Amino acid sequence: MKRLSGKVALITGAARGQGRAHAVRLATEGADIIAFDSCGAFKSTNYDPSTPADLEETARLVEAQGRRVVWRQLDARDFSAVKDLVVEGTRELGRLDTVVVNHGICHYGYTWDVTEENWDEVISVNLTSVWKVLKAVAPYLMGQGQGGSIVVTSSVAGVRGQPFLAPYVASKHALVGLTKTLANELGQHRIRVNTVLPGGVKTPMAGFDWNGEKGESNPFAGELNKPEIAATLGPIFMNALAEKWMEPEDVANTVAFLASDESKFITGAEFPVDCGSTAR
Ligand SMILES: NC(=O)c1ccc[n+]([C@@H]2O[C@H](COP(=O)([O-])OP(=O)(O)OC[C@H]3O[C@@H](n4cnc5c(N)ncnc54)[C@H](O)[C@@H]3O)[C@@H](O)[C@H]2O)c1
Repeated sequence: MKRLSGKVALITGAARGQGRAHAVRLATEGADIIAFDSCGAFKSTNYDPSTPADLEETARLVEAQGRRVVWRQLDARDFSAVKDLVVEGTRELGRLDTVVVNHGICHYGYTWDVTEENWDEVISVNLTSVWKVLKAVAPYLMGQGQGGSIVVTSSVAGVRGQPFLAPYVASKHALVGLTKTLANELGQHRIRVNTVLPGGVKTPMAGFDWNGEKGESNPFAGELNKPEIAATLGPIFMNALAEKWMEPEDVANTVAFLASDESKFITGAEFPVDCGSTAR
C-alpha cells in the first residue's frame, strides 16, 4: 500500500519545475492528480514562461506512474475557472485530499524601482490568486468531511528580507500568515494547512534549464561582487550547508510527507527546505 493510495491531489503551477515534481511524486505515492498551470507570459518576469506542451508532459509523466490525471491550462487569478476545475476534477476522480498551491512568479528590482504594474502583478499572482485557490478548495474539503492536507509554497523569502525582491518577499511573507490563519480555521475539520519555504531550487524561475544548467535570472547576482554590497547583503545569501541549489524533487519529498498521514498532527507549520538558509 502506497502512502497516498486512493487519494486525489490538486497541484497548481504544475507545468514544470517544482509543480511538476510534486505532481509526479504524489502520483508515485499512489495519488490521482488534478493539475493546472497558466502556461503564459507575465510582464514582471525575465525568464521564459512555461508552455502548454510542458503541462502536457507533466500529465504524461503522471500517467506513466499508472495514475489518472485531469489537467487544464488556466490562470489561478480566474476564480471561476479554478472553481470549475475543482468541480470537474473531483467529478472525474471522485474526491480531493491534498492541495499543493505551488504557482508563483518572481520579479527583481530595488524596492523603489518596482513599478506599480509589476507590484500589482506579483501580488495578484503570488498572494491574491493563492487565496482564490484556497477559497475554491476549502468548501469542497469541508463538505467531503474526511480531513485533508493543504500545502502552500512560500519561500525563504517568506521569512527573510531578501533584497531586490520586494513584491515577492511581501507576497511570500503574507502566505505564511494566510497559511496559519487557514490552519486555525480548518483544524475543526481535520484539514491541515502547512507551508514549505524552499531555498534556491533548480527551475526556470531561478534561471536553470531542463538540464539543470545555470543561466541567470537574477540580474542583481553580479552586484554581490561590489565590496559594499557583498559586505552588507552577502550574508543573507549564505547557507548552513555548502550547497546553494536543490532539485525540485528535494522540495517534493517534504510535500509528500505533508500530504501523507505521517504528518497527521502537523498543521500551521513552516517547513524550510533551504540548505539551512533560515538557520542564519
Ligand atoms: N526556484 C526557486 O529557487 C524558488 C525558491 C523558493 C520558492 N519558490 C517558489 O516555488 C514555486 C514554484 O516555482 P518554480 O521554482 O517551480 O518556478 P517555475 O517558474 O519553474 O514554475 C512556476 C509555474 O507556476 C506557473 N504559474 C505562475 N503563475 C500562475 C498562475 N497565476 N496560474 C497558474 N499557474 C501559474 C508558471 O506558469 C510556471 O509553470 C513558486 O511559488 C516559487 O515562488 C521557488
